[in-house]
Amino acid sequence: MLLTGTEGLKALTTAYETGRALPGFVAYNLETVQGIVAAAEAHPGRPVLIQAGSSAFKHAGREPLMRLALDAAASSSAPLGVHLDHSRDLDEITACLEAGYTSVMVDGSHLPFAENIALTREAVRRARDHGAWVEAELGALPGDEDVSTNATANTSATAMTDPSQAAEFVAETGVDALAVAVGNVHGFTATPVRLDLNRLAALHSAVPVPLVLHGASGLPEEQLLGALSRGVAKVNVNAELRRAYLQATSAQLPTALPGSDVVSVWSAGRDAVTEAATRIITQLTPA
Ligand code: 13P
Repeated sequence: MLLTGTEGLKALTTAYETGRALPGFVAYNLETVQGIVAAAEAHPGRPVLIQAGSSAFKHAGREPLMRLALDAAASSSAPLGVHLDHSRDLDEITACLEAGYTSVMVDGSHLPFAENIALTREAVRRARDHGAWVEAELGALPGDEDVSTNATANTSATAMTDPSQAAEFVAETGVDALAVAVGNVHGFTATPVRLDLNRLAALHSAVPVPLVLHGASGLPEEQLLGALSRGVAKVNVNAELRRAYLQATSAQLPTALPGSDVVSVWSAGRDAVTEAATRIITQLTPA
């Protein structure tokens, strides 16, 4: 079932209050959407977010990918939200809200503080008209959202989210969740990431809303669990699903090529996404 904004926010709040986190899985195409949905269906009662957003819209087209994600969620037995990840574009945010997205992430993290507040406020205003909830970001994360670049795991302290600024940001914008930079990195890194858990604890004390951890791929489990016990109630995963999809599809190619059996290649990719997503759902929402 497709969660409404109110139901999605309730799922986020419940996760927050119980030391769990909603997984936000990035989807690019039919097979990644199906793979995520199958993993959610294998875990009844554990809400999952399908993140179909800007970068994948460039590949699939906004309307087809939005419809695909929304229809897959609506026709599933699992509680699924559809979420717009990393958008700087208010028109895109409005289009997703009108289509029925459960939630949106407005990303003004590249902007000066006051401009980030203004952009986020406007996104919140639009989302409220559609009953959706809003995630925003403060601080800067290294790495690319769609390609692992082996970015350094050492974020400079100045790029990390400042707790008192975060408190002001949340109060000024009215966002429902805040993505933070605490040493996390988009994509895989050459050396394991170590989060600044003290900063995360300070952020948790300073802001009254759930925190969001981007860049969870490759994060050691004890770091992830440390984040969950410090106010993180949504965790974004992209590179791990991409890697699973590519490894499985490329392993199929030698046998598929002679007969050009594309379906078996895509199916292998879909199943690998399900397996990777299943592992992450279990980590984030222990039974
Ligand atoms: P990873 O690619 O590290 O999983 O990060 C995903 C993400 O944060 C998407 O917003």
